[in-house]
Amino acid sequence: MVHVAILGFGTVGSGVAEVLTTNGRLIDQRVNNLVRLKYILDVRDFPDSPYQDLFVKDFSVIENDPEVDIVVETIGGARIALDFTTRALKAGKSVVTSNKELVATHGYELLQLAKANGCSYLFEASVGGGIPILRPLTSCLAANELSQVTGILNGTTNYILTRMIRAGLTFEEALREAQANGYAEKDPTADVDGHDACRKICILAALAFGEHVYPDQVPTEGIRRVTLGDVAYADSCGYKIKLLGRCLRMPENKVCAFVAPHLVPGDDPLAGVEDVFNAIAVTGNAIGDVMFYGRGAGKLPTASAVVADVIDIAKDLKKDRRNGWGPGSPDMMVSPDVLPSRWYVRANMTVEQAREACGEIQPLARGGAPEEETAFLTGEMTAPALQEKLAGVDVSSCFRVL
Ligand code: HSE
Repeated sequence: MVHVAILGFGTVGSGVAEVLTTNGRLIDQRVNNLVRLKYILDVRDFPDSPYQDLFVKDFSVIENDPEVDIVVETIGGARIALDFTTRALKAGKSVVTSNKELVATHGYELLQLAKANGCSYLFEASVGGGIPILRPLTSCLAANELSQVTGILNGTTNYILTRMIRAGLTFEEALREAQANGYAEKDPTADVDGHDACRKICILAALAFGEHVYPDQVPTEGIRRVTLGDVAYADSCGYKIKLLGRCLRMPENKVCAFVAPHLVPGDDPLAGVEDVFNAIAVTGNAIGDVMFYGRGAGKLPTASAVVADVIDIAKDLKKDRRNGWGPGSPDMMVSPDVLPSRWYVRANMTVEQAREACGEIQPLARGGAPEEETAFLTGEMTAPALQEKLAGVDVSSCFRVL
C-alpha cells in the first residue's frame, strides 16, 4: 500500500483529497497498488469534512511515520512549505507540489535534496494548472533543442483581460469577479503584478534550458497599467492584449526571460486563449511549434496534475526520475532590452510628432479618445531605442507586439 499525506487543505489540497477519493479505484488499478490518503495537515479545523479522522496539526506526525511515502505540499509560499518539504525529503518521502513560488526560488536545492535521499520532487501542477506541460516538455520533446517558450501563464490576469475586452469591465470590476470565482491567489498582487507568471516562466526556462532561473533575474510587469483605452486600440488593429511569460535561448547558452503585457496578433493561437485558460507555446528544432492549452487554475484541474504526479511516484517509489537542472548563474541571463520588436505606444503627442520621432508608424483610432492622445504601432526596434526616440514625451502606455 502507498500512503499519502496532504499538507494544506485549501483549494488545491481539498481538490487532491477529492480526486484521490472519487477516482480511488481507477488510481489503484493504474498504480497496481492501493493508494491511500493517511493524513491531512492544516492548522484550521474542518468539523464537517468527510476526512475528519485524517486531520493532524503537527507535521512531525507525518515526518516520523515510516508508512507515509508521498507528501503533497499545497500550502503555498516559500517559508513553512520550504521547511516541511525539506524535512519530508530528508525523511526519504517524495514530495509533490503545485507551489510555483517554492519551485522557482528553491527548486534546484530541493531537487538535489530529493536525489540525495533517493526520492522525488515533482511539480507538474506548478505551471499551467491542469495542463500537462512539464512532463511533455522534458519527455515528449526531449529530442529537441528548444529555442523559446511563450505562455499565457496566469488564469486570473487572463480572466481579467478577457472580461475587459469582452464585457468592457474595468480592471477593478474584473479582478473582483476573478476573486469571487476563486481564481486569484490569496494576495492578488502575485497575479496582477505578474509575479505568479514570473515564477512559472522560471520553471519553464529551467526545464527548457537546463539551468535554474530565479524570479529576481526576470524583469516582470503585470497588467495594472492596461486600460480599457489600450484594449480598444488593440482591438481596432486586430490584436488582443495578453500577459505573456517568455523565455528564449540566446547565443552562448544564455537565457532571456521576462513577463510583460503584449499585443498578440488576432491570428496567433495565443490570442484566442480566453478566461481562466492558459496556453504555452514551445518551439523546438525538430518539432517546430507546439502549443499546450487548458485550465490553468482551479481546484480540480490543478488537483488533476498533482494526483498524476502522485500516481507516477506510487508506481515506482524508488525510481530515479532525473528531473534536475543546473544551479544557474547571474551572467547567464540576458536583458530583454536586446530583443527588437514592434511596439504599441499611447502618448500625448500628435500623429506628425509620432512619425517624426519613430519613423514609419501605424496610427490607431478609438471612440472617445482625448484630442491630445495618439496611439500607434512602431516598426521593429529595441526598448532602449524606442525610449530614446520618445525621450521627453508623456507616454501613458507602451507594450511590446508579439
Ligand atoms: N492564481 C493562479 C492563476 C493560480 O490565476 O493562474 C494558478 O497558478
